[in-house]
Amino acid sequence: MPDDTLPTTADFLQTNRKRWDELAEHHPDTEFYDVERFLDGATTLRPLELEELGDVSEKPLLHLQCHFGLDTLSWARAGADVTGVDFSEAGVSMARELADETELDAEFVQANLYDLPDELDGEFDVVYTSYGVLAWLPDLTEWAEVIAEFLAPGGTFYMAEIHPLGTTLADLQSDGAAEIGHSYFEDDAMRYEVEGTYADWEADIENTTAVEWQHGLGEVVTALASAGLTIEFVHEFPFSCYQQFPAMEEGEDGWWRVPDAEKQVPFTFSVQARNAK
Ligand SMILES: C[S@@+](CC[C@H](N)C(=O)[O-])C[C@H]1O[C@@H](n2cnc3c(N)ncnc32)[C@H](O)[C@@H]1O
Repeated sequence: MPDDTLPTTADFLQTNRKRWDELAEHHPDTEFYDVERFLDGATTLRPLELEELGDVSEKPLLHLQCHFGLDTLSWARAGADVTGVDFSEAGVSMARELADETELDAEFVQANLYDLPDELDGEFDVVYTSYGVLAWLPDLTEWAEVIAEFLAPGGTFYMAEIHPLGTTLADLQSDGAAEIGHSYFEDDAMRYEVEGTYADWEADIENTTAVEWQHGLGEVVTALASAGLTIEFVHEFPFSCYQQFPAMEEGEDGWWRVPDAEKQVPFTFSVQARNAK
């Protein structure tokens, strides 16, 4: 008999959705997201994804887990015909407000990623997702099937993401001394309490519980290949999009690195795959 007092995956997603709703209300006011700079015309995309994905002009682009829309709207500024998806009502409503304010053409859909095939029609030349997305997803096989379903024949899937090796570490010092916080091969949901948010550690956030899942790089690539996509590249980089450990230093390019050049591990990876049908 299953123990129905135990939380289910649906309960975990609901816990995360409550937290993300609160974060989506708070994040537009943080220096981390610097909405003013975006409203002044700056892109929030990094040279990494802009260069690796290349020209998106006039291409239908689906952005999965778009938060409150800054990157989606930056792809619109780069010429793409964008649709952003997120399960947070607050995130999607802020994204729509920013689209109105900037007069950028964009569709935003509020949906759990796994339910997207019931909520959205169409095919996209580009499916995109980035930085801080996979840890919120319990199942990557199903995630990749959703991507394959929306990717037009010949279309490109591209992701740039926080590397799953770095996230297993509880600490990493500049001399390379590291402490492993959880297994790279952890299968179970990891529930934890967090004060504040990565965008503002001092913030008074009520929904402190978060639930994450660990997904190794092999699992990511295998899920995409199993969904029928042809992998074009997997790149790994020794820098992070945020200060993952106190020993990290920010470079002029905005990436965070461990200073000792002899002790480098990956903190970011990118994958490009094609629907070769
Ligand atoms: C770290 S943010 C994405 C960050 C984005 N790169 C940025 O900095 O704006 C992760 C997003 O995933 C969304 N999310 C988490 N689980 C989801 C799910 N099951 N379906 C749709 N969106 C989800 C959250 O609401 C949040 O907006």
